[in-house]
Amino acid sequence: MKIPRREFLKLGLVGGAGLILPFGASACSLFPKGGANVETDSSAGNVLRSTARLPEPFTVPLPIPPVAKPVRSDSIADYYEITQKVGHAEILPGMKTEVWGYDGIFPGPTIESRSGRRTIVTHRNELHVPTVVHLHGGKNPHEYDGYPTNLVLPVGGWHSKDHSSHSGDISKGAKEYIYPVDQPAATLWYHDHRMDFTGPQVYKGLAGFHLIHDDEEERLPLPKGERDIPLMICDRAFAEGGSMIYPSLDPSLSGRPGVKPDYMSGVLGDCILVNGAPWPYMEVTNTRYRFRILNASNARRYKIALDPPPKQGPSFIQVGSDGGLLGKPLHHYEIQIAQAGRFDVIIDFSGYSIGEKVTLVNRLGDGGTARIMRFVVARKGNDDSHVPRRLGDYESLSPSQAKETREFTFQRGGAERNGMTLWTVNGKLFDPQRIDAYPRLGAVERWKIRTLNVPHPIHIHLARFQVLSRDNGAPGPYDAGWKDTVDLDSGGEAEVLAKFDGYRGKYVFHCHNLEHEDMAMMDNFEVV
Ligand code: C2O
Ligand code: CU
Ligand code: CU
Repeated sequence: MKIPRREFLKLGLVGGAGLILPFGASACSLFPKGGANVETDSSAGNVLRSTARLPEPFTVPLPIPPVAKPVRSDSIADYYEITQKVGHAEILPGMKTEVWGYDGIFPGPTIESRSGRRTIVTHRNELHVPTVVHLHGGKNPHEYDGYPTNLVLPVGGWHSKDHSSHSGDISKGAKEYIYPVDQPAATLWYHDHRMDFTGPQVYKGLAGFHLIHDDEEERLPLPKGERDIPLMICDRAFAEGGSMIYPSLDPSLSGRPGVKPDYMSGVLGDCILVNGAPWPYMEVTNTRYRFRILNASNARRYKIALDPPPKQGPSFIQVGSDGGLLGKPLHHYEIQIAQAGRFDVIIDFSGYSIGEKVTLVNRLGDGGTARIMRFVVARKGNDDSHVPRRLGDYESLSPSQAKETREFTFQRGGAERNGMTLWTVNGKLFDPQRIDAYPRLGAVERWKIRTLNVPHPIHIHLARFQVLSRDNGAPGPYDAGWKDTVDLDSGGEAEVLAKFDGYRGKYVFHCHNLEHEDMAMMDNFEVV
């Protein structure tokens, strides 16, 4: 048997403690045989190696996902119809890859909403397994939030081999998701959220952007139109012939959930895709661009930087975070972005000469995963955009507003299922029936989130939050603004102030390492 190579936490190796034994693995299989190719990545997980021939980096142009058109509009809402189906994409040049896509494409079509106007999306499921649509970052009623057991069954019918008691709100064939869009301009994304199977279903392609615009954003002199570009970064591995590799225990995704023991910490690919293209390039003018950067990977973190950096200073001017615009812009030489995180940034190409090539690199990667995409400064352009000193109305929450304090520890172990030690929250496995917190509608709460063993990016549905402290000190450089995901190192701790605004009902919070999420690192709160 071929022993896959593992990626270890730098911290774990240096500290000599905290080395993680993958499930079912014995200590002697912990170290890769035949070569010490240990990736120095801070992501929990194990790299799948492609056997397909991967292209030379920066030879495929960057695709931009199409913007969805409403099938109709009335005075209060825009209506969309999306069909979830199998598609065949040319991801690797000359090969066809089967994807599961919204409208059969990966990434799915970008939905653009206007704050204050409803967006109503009917999703039809033409796949052969149940799906669930979650609008990540959305402030939506429980029934439209994509609760993991609120399944949309395939139009062709569904006979589950899985007899565990999943007691959701079941839709047959299609479901209408009604989004009130009562929230400010922000970069959201929608993705699959089927209980126990989110990892493989997102990996196969069920992810797309959903942008919200509002007047405040529109009045800003930031780059617009063709210079406002969403970038969905993710990693995949490909088999000979071009199909995606994912180590599911049951590749049909209709029976036993979970991945092979070696991948329980996370599935990492060796090929970096941006908007579904491998290490693409994009021609730009020597002007400012706005990029909405999303890490849609299952388990990989990135630390992005420009190589070479612009002469005038920091590579990125951050204007927005997960939940919308910052109060004022923030400058970064590099940005660490965990799974599901969004950074809305301006890159100014005016300091580069025409013809210059600027690579977006990943400082947490190694070999192929150290590169993401390339910008080629192809032409001169006119630029009347700028980044104002003040961006938006930003209300800073204060700890004195917090009515309640809660603590959650994310770790491996503490509970078992079928003899396997899974990922837990406060030592417990996800159970759709058990609710562990009851925040009051509209309340601000202080949540202390801790991790053991490995890093975990923690995501809360419905509530937006602000990071109050990290490891008992100030928030980190990537914590600014309204967030819905906070990235924690192994043994890390953060306190967040979360506002449970919007709707009563049951919602989840979970680790956004999708393999951890699928293997029980999820919990419920109910807004009352
Ligand atoms: Cu992006 Cu509960 O997920
Ligand atoms: Cu979410
Ligand atoms: Cu995790």
